[in-house]
Amino acid sequence: MASDWRVPGFTSTASKRPDALFGAAGDGPSPPPPERMARAAGCRVWDEAGREYVDYIMALGAVALGYGHPAVNGAAQEAIASGVVGPLAPVLEEELAVALCGAIPWIERVRFLKTGAEAVAAAVRLGRVATGRDRVLGCGYHGWLDWCQGGAVQGVPAATRELYAELPFNDVERTRAEIRAVGDRLAVVVVEPVVVEEPRREWLDALRGETARVGAVLVFDEIKTAFRLALGGAAERYGVRPDLVVLGKAMANGFPLAAVGGRADLMSGVAHTWISSTLATESVALAAARATLQVTVAEGVCAHLHQVGTQLLHGLHRLQHRYPHAVTGVAGVAEMCFLNYASEEVSRSVARGCAARGLLFKRTAYNFVSLAHDESTVDRTLAVLEEVLGGVVG
Ligand SMILES: Cc1ncc(COP(=O)(O)O)c(C=O)c1O
Repeated sequence: MASDWRVPGFTSTASKRPDALFGAAGDGPSPPPPERMARAAGCRVWDEAGREYVDYIMALGAVALGYGHPAVNGAAQEAIASGVVGPLAPVLEEELAVALCGAIPWIERVRFLKTGAEAVAAAVRLGRVATGRDRVLGCGYHGWLDWCQGGAVQGVPAATRELYAELPFNDVERTRAEIRAVGDRLAVVVVEPVVVEEPRREWLDALRGETARVGAVLVFDEIKTAFRLALGGAAERYGVRPDLVVLGKAMANGFPLAAVGGRADLMSGVAHTWISSTLATESVALAAARATLQVTVAEGVCAHLHQVGTQLLHGLHRLQHRYPHAVTGVAGVAEMCFLNYASEEVSRSVARGCAARGLLFKRTAYNFVSLAHDESTVDRTLAVLEEVLGGVVG
């Protein structure tokens, strides 16, 4: 019984709950979908019964090189052999910072943390330090911490909620109006630069222009997009310069690491506040990130993701045209995409039908390709989706 689980809510990563991935349990023609995994390699996953799946969930975007990439594992093993942690700041920390600043030129200084949520919170804190203001406008998902929760989340003080409001993605007029309305009380605008669709040029220009106008700090939350759309994420792809950026997920190919970086003057705000975590400097994740960066550059990973992602995206569009009763749209970009389904019931039966055929294809944002996905993997994926969609009753 679900209530017997010692981990309430089934798992500590809410997006990995079976009902989130496959829809509510119920009687259906398919066998029950996998609940827990035993191991993963490349783009494949094995569940606790030993069944094999091709995966597009890719640890919710935390893995872009494939699971267990040998260069990353090798670097992590060396760090383990060197003791993992110690009393002093590790040499590796500054080395990784130098490598990141070299690879992403608008990152002049960088601090490391363990989770994306922490790193975005640090960016917001630094923006508040720099401006001496409180109010924050956000767009997209920025993690579970108090500062960015809307009204539906219980346990967040009303006074905290009042400091935060959401900006509408890609809506130039409302974005401009809302930034102007908060005006000289606005500390930070923090946005996910891709939310289901590509950002419009005018929206990006409005964000950059209006934040400069009111003296607020512009933060790009590139936790999903960096090391994927381009090494430097959406800022690089769309040619925008945010003041601060937040990195995470694919940066260490699944090892726990996130970072806040950007303009040196803003980052120097760390001297006037308190941002620190005991294990932010453990060296396994730092070593994994350095190896991930090297592989990403040396193997042209972002170009590969774009190529196989485009093949997938084109295939999804073909499926939408063939099965309009089941698929109402294709969302996202080549590197991170998903299908919009006609109903919850359709999305549930597609996710379950795919799983029964050895494919983990997410029914909501996002499916992620990796270096381990190749042309033939994507061809087989599209064939499975076609077979499943063909059986969906409209
Ligand atoms: C854009 C974005 N920001 C922040 C976060 C929070 O990161 P984490 O779950 O590592 O705390 C996520 C996680 O999905 C994310 O996608």
